[in-house]
Amino acid sequence: MQKGDSMENNELVQNKKNEIKFHFNNMRAENFKNEKYGISYKDIMKLSQKVDLAYYKVMDDENRETEAFFDLVRNPQNLSEIKEYANFVAENFENFVILGIGGSALGARALFTALTTMDYKKCDLKRNQRPNWFVRDSICPEKFACLLEAIDVKKTMFCVVTKSGGTLETLVQLNLVIEKLKEALGDEYTKNICAVTANLDGKLNKWATENNVKTFYFGNDVSGRFSVFSAVGLLPAAVVGADIDKLLEGANNMLQKCHTLKFFENPALYGATLQKIALDKGCNISYLMPYSDNLKIMAEWYCQLWAESLGKTISSFCKNKHVGQTPVKALGTVDQHSQMQLCLEGPYDKIVTFIRVNKHENDAVIPNLNNGLLDDYVCGHKLSDILNVSQQATEKALLERNRLNRTIEIDELDEYSMGELLMYFMIETAFMGALMDVNTFNQPSVELIKLNIKDILSKKARVSKIKAIVESQKEQEEQKEENAEVVEEAKPQDVIEEKNLTDELTKEPEVMTQIVSEPVEETFVSDDEIEDFDFEISKEEQEQLMMPEVEELEKVEVPEVQDEQKIDFSEDEQLEGQQQFELELEEEKSEPFNEDKKEDIE
Ligand code: PA5
Repeated sequence: MQKGDSMENNELVQNKKNEIKFHFNNMRAENFKNEKYGISYKDIMKLSQKVDLAYYKVMDDENRETEAFFDLVRNPQNLSEIKEYANFVAENFENFVILGIGGSALGARALFTALTTMDYKKCDLKRNQRPNWFVRDSICPEKFACLLEAIDVKKTMFCVVTKSGGTLETLVQLNLVIEKLKEALGDEYTKNICAVTANLDGKLNKWATENNVKTFYFGNDVSGRFSVFSAVGLLPAAVVGADIDKLLEGANNMLQKCHTLKFFENPALYGATLQKIALDKGCNISYLMPYSDNLKIMAEWYCQLWAESLGKTISSFCKNKHVGQTPVKALGTVDQHSQMQLCLEGPYDKIVTFIRVNKHENDAVIPNLNNGLLDDYVCGHKLSDILNVSQQATEKALLERNRLNRTIEIDELDEYSMGELLMYFMIETAFMGALMDVNTFNQPSVELIKLNIKDILSKKARVSKIKAIVESQKEQEEQKEENAEVVEEAKPQDVIEEKNLTDELTKEPEVMTQIVSEPVEETFVSDDEIEDFDFEISKEEQEQLMMPEVEELEKVEVPEVQDEQKIDFSEDEQLEGQQQFELELEEEKSEPFNEDKKEDIE
C-alpha cells in the first residue's frame, strides 16, 4: 500500500470538470469527539497487507469477472449499432418498455430516473422527442395490467432483457406482451420487440432467433448487477436520449482513478477499506442516502449490488461463516424525518453514505411573501440550497453523535457523473468482496429460489394432471355402472347388442389411455391412490403423493448458521457511548444551537 498525496486532509479532491468528489473525513477517528468510534490510521495500517492483496485480485487481468465489466468501458462493443437502433426506436415508437428483473432492470431504471425529467410525460421536452419509458421488473398483476391498458402497444417497443435468457418473471411478461401484440398486429408483432441477452443457448435467444427479433448480446462473464455499461444499460439510456459516450467516459475515468495502489488517491480502495473496518467494528448496516430524487433508484441499484455481491457463506477453518453488510436506501430530506432518528440514536451498527448534488435543474427560488410563514433567512434561497444545507446538517449531527458517515459530492447530475458514480460503486463492491474473501460475482441462493419456483410450479402442474386422471377415471366408472344397468334391463332379443356393449365396456377407456400413456404419469400414482383421491387436493395430500422430480434439483449448499457476526464494541463501550450521548443531550438542551458550529464539518 502506498500512501499517496492526499493524506494531509484525508480528502480526495478531483479537479477535472464535473468529477465526483469524495469526503471521507467523517469516517476518520481524528475528527470524532470520541476517537474510538472512528477509524484510525492504525486501523487502516493493520489491514494494509489484505488491502494490497484485494487490489491485485480485483485489478488482475486474469480475473475474468472484473475484467469482463472493466472491458465494457475500456473496449465498448456495438456502440454505433446501439445508437442507430436507439434512434430508430425514438423515431418510430411513442413508448419504450423494459421487461427484466434484478441486474437486468435496475441499472436502466437508475439511468432513466437520473437522466430524464421526473415526470415521464415531459421526458420528450427535455430529451428532444424521445419515447416515454417504463420498466416492468415486477410481475404484480395490477401494475402489469395497468401498463398494458395505459399504453398503445402498437406504438410501443418492448425490450426484453435477461442475461440467462431463462428468468421466469421476464419470460412470463414477454409471453403476455406477445399475446397482446399478436392481437393488435398479427404476424408483424415481433417488430415491436427487441432483446438483450448473454446466453446464446438460452430460451430467449432461441425464440428471438427463430422469430427474427433484433437482439443485442453481451459477454457471459459479466454478472447481471455489473452489466449496466453493456447493452443492458446503454440501449435504454440511448433510447431516452442520453449521451452514452459521455456515460462511458465517466465510467472509464473512474476506472483509471481506481487503478492505483496509492491508497488515499484510490477512492474505491480507500472507500472499501473504510467499509470493511467499519464492518469489523460491528457496522453491519450500510445506508445510502442521496439528496436528490433523481438518485432514488440508483440507491435501489446499489442495494442490489451490495447485498447480492457480499451476502455470502464462507468457509473459515472448517466452519461456515455468514457474512455481509445490509444495504439500506434512504432519501434526503425525507428520511431526516424518519430513519435518521435510528441512525443518530440507535445501535452503533450503521454507516451512512450521503450523495449531495450541487446544481439542480428547475431550481426554484423561495419567494419572500411577507406572510409570516418563513423567516427572512430562508427566503431568497434556492430549493437546492435548503436541500444541501439539510444534508450538511444531518452529516454534522451524525459526527456529533460519533456516527460513521461519508459524503459523495456531485456538481451536476449528467451522463459523465452518473458513469463515474455507478463505476465507483461497482469497483468498491469488488474491492469489498475481495477484502471479505467472498465470491462477489455469484449468487447461489438467488439461483436456489429460481429452482424452487420451477420445482413448485412443476409439482402443481402434476397435481392438476392427476386430478384430470382421477376425474376422467371416475366418469368412466360411472359410465360403466350406468351401462351395466342398461344391460341388466335388456330384453332376450337384444343378445347381440348386449354382447357389443359388454365388449365396449371391457375396453380401456380412450381418454384414460391417452393421459396415462404420457410418460410422467405412469409411475407415481397407483389405482388405489386414484380411488381414494380427494378432488380438493390439500397441501399435505400433495406432499403425500411423493411425485418424482421432473428434473433433478441442482444442489445448492446453504450451510447452517454457526458463527455470529463479531462486534468489537464491548458492552461497557456501548454503555459509555450511551452515557456520553445522554450527557451531550443534556448539554444541548441547556445551550441554544450555535450557528458557528456549522463550520466544523467543512
Ligand atoms: O445480478 C444478478 O445476477 C441477478 O440479479 C440477475 O440480474 C437476475 O436474477 C435476473 O437474471 P437474468 O438477467 O438472467 O434474467
